[in-house]
Amino acid sequence: MNIQRFTDGRALSQDLARRILAAIDRQPGLVLGLPTGRTPLPLYAALREQTPPAGTDWSAVRTFNLDEFVGLGASDQESYRAYMERELFAAVGVDPTHVGFLDGRAADPDAECGRYEEAIAAAGGIDLMILGIGANGHIGFNEPAPGLHARTHRARLQPGTRAANAALFGGDISRVPDEALSMGMATILRARSVILMATGAGKAAAVDAMIRGPITTMLPASFLQLHPDVTVMVDLAASPR
Ligand code: F6R
Repeated sequence: MNIQRFTDGRALSQDLARRILAAIDRQPGLVLGLPTGRTPLPLYAALREQTPPAGTDWSAVRTFNLDEFVGLGASDQESYRAYMERELFAAVGVDPTHVGFLDGRAADPDAECGRYEEAIAAAGGIDLMILGIGANGHIGFNEPAPGLHARTHRARLQPGTRAANAALFGGDISRVPDEALSMGMATILRARSVILMATGAGKAAAVDAMIRGPITTMLPASFLQLHPDVTVMVDLAASPR
């Protein structure tokens, strides 16, 4: 893994935004995998700032987000879909027909997961996957467990993960759904290139174990050690020893 350290989340995000925009300039039809959560908020702000009206053209970019809460859809303000519209898609001009998203309101969640895998394959696979990491080492909503799912699946969220998402729900943990749909580990590992971002002291132990520890389903991010092109961008607080 290629580890890159930055003084803070803002410097990290500015650098990553420049990289993403350069990748789109080189390959206008880039297929991006994207996370939600707190960590990428400064990245999405930097992408908004660095995409002036005559700047990078996002109109051919295709996106696939990692996950969505079961029970929530585009019209729910707490959904990850609504988060992405607010933080990135509308401001930079992603074509709505190029947005790939799991529908947390799908009547048949298993069929929805299968549809998502097919949509990613039909787009030619993910070129660049941007990831955050949970303090427990989860990526997407692949939580630590004795076994992991390879493909997109329905996932049960751990209490700590629900607490970490409470801000989206007015700070009320009881309103955070206890299930989500998430890309699986193989879905993530099939991306051609992966960049994981981690900021804050709360992520330091997970980052360290991801890089140095054994590959274990109890720390799902450790599977990234198997991928040939992973960059880990950290601020000083999240920096491994
Ligand atoms: C969200 C996702 C999650 C987050 C992780 C860290 O789409 O994929 O794995 O990246 O929970 O969340 P934050 O950034 O809020 O600490």
